[in-house]
Amino acid sequence: MLRSIIKGVGSCVPDKILSNEDLLKIVDTSDDWIVSRTGIKERRIADKNTKTSDIATEASKKALEMANMEPCDIDLIIIGTVTPDMIFPATSCIVQNNLGIKKAAAFDISAGCAGFIYSLSVADSFIKSGQFKNALVIGVDVLSRITDYTDRSTCVLFGDGGGALVLSADNGESGRGILSTHIHSEGGHDDILKLPAGGSNIPASAESVNNREHYIKMKGSELFKYAVNYLKDVAQEAIKYNNLNSEDIDLFVPHQANTRIIEATAKKLGFPMEKVFVDVYKYGNTSSGSIPLALDEAYRSGRIKQGDIVLVDAIGAGLTWASAMIKW
Ligand code: UT7
Repeated sequence: MLRSIIKGVGSCVPDKILSNEDLLKIVDTSDDWIVSRTGIKERRIADKNTKTSDIATEASKKALEMANMEPCDIDLIIIGTVTPDMIFPATSCIVQNNLGIKKAAAFDISAGCAGFIYSLSVADSFIKSGQFKNALVIGVDVLSRITDYTDRSTCVLFGDGGGALVLSADNGESGRGILSTHIHSEGGHDDILKLPAGGSNIPASAESVNNREHYIKMKGSELFKYAVNYLKDVAQEAIKYNNLNSEDIDLFVPHQANTRIIEATAKKLGFPMEKVFVDVYKYGNTSSGSIPLALDEAYRSGRIKQGDIVLVDAIGAGLTWASAMIKW
């Protein structure tokens, strides 16, 4: 049976660091509040010339280099993002052109912070069906473009960055690859997390700009309650589906939104923190960028080795939530 295996991983973050100390000069907050509530110490911010497609392109080049593949080998590109360069064309088409790839199918997926795992799930299904052989699966966001730096309840949380995987068809004999993906959604929660304007509901106008409706609106404490439970549920779903136990998982890589959510989820799942990857303290919440960025860091720092079983999960706007079990 065909299976998709990870041949390469890469990531990219902007150079500019926005620290908690920098934020103290902009909004009424404190390093102590931010660190104790979120674990975040700093985040990366793109300069005004850097677009989502630029970060995606750089991450993809690194993933292709690790895979020892040429751009022309890629026949599918999927990007999970809520901050595309433009509403259309899809950012994946821009990345395709940047990389000089011809004809590969390219489209974006909007699934909030779960966008990367949704993209992975779709790419995995295409590869297992035999329709495509080599996919670039990318998760990237430049949240600073839609962050309201007058709103202390959100602006301390978000950062920019992302990563990419090269996923390739394999005959499955090695047992490696994407073992499962589970994706879910539950509409009706746009009061908890949304970007109100810029779509067909509230098109851009002087009024929408004056009302600051082109920025993220989030009710963090309400989302927090869903996050811990749904992240636990979808991780357990993956563990059960694969007939595994918590002890079989070598590394748990959850969405990097908040250390309190990560620790509470890990505790419910019975994972000691040594088995949990955390980099939210230096990147903040990068939405769709969070999982592939963490996977790249974990792999390049030796926390993931070939043959390891890695569980990833994420939750975001929609609500959407998802998990993937990977034998690396
Ligand atoms: O990526 C998508 C998924 N997103 C998430 O999973 C985010 C989930 N939510 C969270 O991570 C947390 O809810 C937050 C970190 C966003 C907020 O933490 P919280 O413990 O839920 O705080 P809160 O919203 O209940 O606010 C507590 C207090 C409030 O003051 P009062 O009303 O108690 O006087 C806020 O006004 O903290 C105040 N506050 C701040 N104080 C200092 C809110 N933001 C700040 C701030 N600095 N930056």
